Amino acid sequence: MKTIDELLAEGVGGKRVFVRADLNVPLDGTTITDDGRIRAVLPTVARLAEAGARVIVASHLGRPKGAPDPAFSLAPAAARLGELLGGPTGEVAFATDTVGESARAVVEGLADGRVAVIENLRFNPGETSKDDAERGAFADQLAELADLYVGDGFGAVHRKHASVFDLPARLPHAAGGLIATEVAVLKKLTDEVRRPYAVVLGGAKVSDKLGVIDHLLEKADRILIGGGMLFTFLKAQGHEIGSSLVQEDQIPAVQEYLKRAEARGVEFVLPVDVLVADEFPDLKTKAPAHPETVAADAIPAGKMGLDIGPETGRLYASKLLDAETVFWNGPMGVFEHPDYAEGTRAVAQALVDSPGFSVVGGGDSAAAVRILGFDENAFGHISTGGGASLEYLEGKTLPGLAALED
Ligand code: 3PG
Repeated sequence: MKTIDELLAEGVGGKRVFVRADLNVPLDGTTITDDGRIRAVLPTVARLAEAGARVIVASHLGRPKGAPDPAFSLAPAAARLGELLGGPTGEVAFATDTVGESARAVVEGLADGRVAVIENLRFNPGETSKDDAERGAFADQLAELADLYVGDGFGAVHRKHASVFDLPARLPHAAGGLIATEVAVLKKLTDEVRRPYAVVLGGAKVSDKLGVIDHLLEKADRILIGGGMLFTFLKAQGHEIGSSLVQEDQIPAVQEYLKRAEARGVEFVLPVDVLVADEFPDLKTKAPAHPETVAADAIPAGKMGLDIGPETGRLYASKLLDAETVFWNGPMGVFEHPDYAEGTRAVAQALVDSPGFSVVGGGDSAAAVRILGFDENAFGHISTGGGASLEYLEGKTLPGLAALED
């Protein structure tokens, strides 16, 4: 995989460089609530601009349906990128389409050392198409905008999309600094693991985590479960879960994992207490939700579990403190509401306190640590990739990394 250092050494002055970034940031209207992904790609953009390249930054945002949709415009991300770059480089031009008149004009008008952002790649159906020819046709159009390609959208490398997979085959390419860092970190979680290796998995759906649990049963020493998916685990153990989130169809798979973990001596740690309420909290008003703490094996009928409880927080912290390697993906509860943020905070704090190497993976958990006010530098690494880090840990070939290999 050619690195950006090699590319810069060859010289990029006057060249149009297409940077595939992941600027898929959480938005509240047009306000960015966590700009971590923009800051993560900043060094790559700045280095290319400083070296005199004409930098074209491209990304997806959200999941629009292959047509322009103002709710998913990259304009706020482009503006934030400009602010962060600062100085003359910070005057970031914005194209209101992807490969149309606006994009061509913006690229045409780009001076050496200047940066442009083109509109959300997913406004074009070719970006995500399953049809190779349709994707290829879009990649051909994107290729016309640039001379060189830098892949640095780590969060999207698991997607076989035109700008991630097909475009690098059409242009001389290199991996950006963010991708290089992310891959080096993930290697420490797969090939060069220091033990004990503890993994904390949260988030709403167990179905999103099946592949990684399957793989981690061969690698990890402890697996701690939180988030909405914990209720499928509790139900699989035969407990009452009230009106909590559950994926009934995943119960057999979960039961099989619990058995395999026992047979392999992998410690599966489930909550001992949970916070419950009558209903899902109002995340807009954040009105007090008045949760109660109940034993995890005694959730009253009609009650909904929304966070791990305080005793579980302490238990999980104790399982992380002596770990040499920790990987955490997925919040422990509905952390966006202050009454349900403590479980996620307890896990984040344990990662900070653990002297081992700790990695926060995943859009939601990465955003959670920043929103809860933790210092990013207190963690070994905060990944920009949610699905991408999980699929890497599953041992899958990631299209966006494979495309940069040759
Ligand atoms: C992410 O948020 O994990 C990446 O930006 C990929 O987004 P996607 O799941 O919509 O492809």
